[in-house]
Amino acid sequence: MFLSSIQQFTVFVSQRVRRACTFLGKRLVGSSRLNGWFYPPSKIETPAEKYRKLNVHYFSDLHEQERMLADEQRMAFYHNAINRHIKPGDRVIDLGTGTGILAAFASRQGAAQVYAVDHSSIIEHARELAAENGIENVDFEDVHSTNFHLDEPVDVILHEQIGDFLFDEAMVPNVCDLRDRLLKPGGLILPSQFELFCEPMTLHDDRRTPYIWELTDVHGFNFSSMERSRPQHPEYYRLVSCDLGVVKHFLGEPTPMVEVDLHTITETSLPLSVKFTRKVTTSGLLDGLVVFMKAKVDDDLVLSSSPLDPSRAPHWGFRILRLDQSYAEIGDELEVTLTVTDWSDPETWRWICEMHTS
Ligand SMILES: C[S@@+](CC[C@H](N)C(=O)[O-])C[C@H]1O[C@@H](n2cnc3c(N)ncnc32)[C@H](O)[C@@H]1O
Repeated sequence: MFLSSIQQFTVFVSQRVRRACTFLGKRLVGSSRLNGWFYPPSKIETPAEKYRKLNVHYFSDLHEQERMLADEQRMAFYHNAINRHIKPGDRVIDLGTGTGILAAFASRQGAAQVYAVDHSSIIEHARELAAENGIENVDFEDVHSTNFHLDEPVDVILHEQIGDFLFDEAMVPNVCDLRDRLLKPGGLILPSQFELFCEPMTLHDDRRTPYIWELTDVHGFNFSSMERSRPQHPEYYRLVSCDLGVVKHFLGEPTPMVEVDLHTITETSLPLSVKFTRKVTTSGLLDGLVVFMKAKVDDDLVLSSSPLDPSRAPHWGFRILRLDQSYAEIGDELEVTLTVTDWSDPETWRWICEMHTS
């Protein structure tokens, strides 16, 4: 095909320009001095930032909201707490409003103004639900609580930031931040008193899953050599359940391992190692430690996730920290040591339980 000299010239120039640009580009990208500009270091997320993303995603799911709303013990606890302690005229922050249900209870109780804060997309539904239910004096704020600001402090901080492990929904940092910035002196945090338990216990025989290396005769097949592959990661030793039929009994008298009052706690006041003993009062196999929580508003208004409490709030799981089995007799002493790097991250929990026979 015939190319005009203008065409030939254009092709020649564009090829040269392209080659020059490629060469220059390679030199620039390859330059160690410009490396940081072309390849900026990716930001390393802190565990708190990672959890925040997970939380946003988790609570945008309607099923999670359903589970909480269907938990009659939880709803009755909060309804009573609000009816008893929120006074007409109070200004209230509802930290993590979800579907807006607690903000609506506060509004119906006569709160002058409720600020309903949530960082997840569920807040869009909360806004509509409030309008459809005739709730008028609630401001819905689509932000993370640490980015929520007000000119005047409030009378009450209302929240439900309670995880299965009590601290694993960032309750302490979130509430402390709002308390220190936006709660009037003498203002109320609802609920504020919490107990975390970690009790040595026996499982029901038919609910016990042995370690795989303990299975020495599955219809003549022996798994004992699997002990060589015993997992080192703690996740394997942590189970979760909501089922009242799993734990048979505590071996000793349950006593809180940690007690918290959100009016006074600071983020650093929790000890990172807790050691306690239990005198065995009911003999049985020591299968593990069971972790559960209690929240208290008044002596007669308590929320519990205890695996042995028939009126437990059912949507909270209790956790089982597995131990190598041993038999505990009445009078034996069990010495439990729990160390954590970060209470809000169960991945960092490590536990041992030593038995001292009587
Ligand atoms: C356990 S749900 C409780 C929802 C509602 N208060 C209730 O009782 O049904 C916690 C809610 O808090 C929100 N949340 C958690 N941390 C938050 C924060 N720091 N700022 C704003 N919203 C938060 C979540 O998106 C979620 O909707």
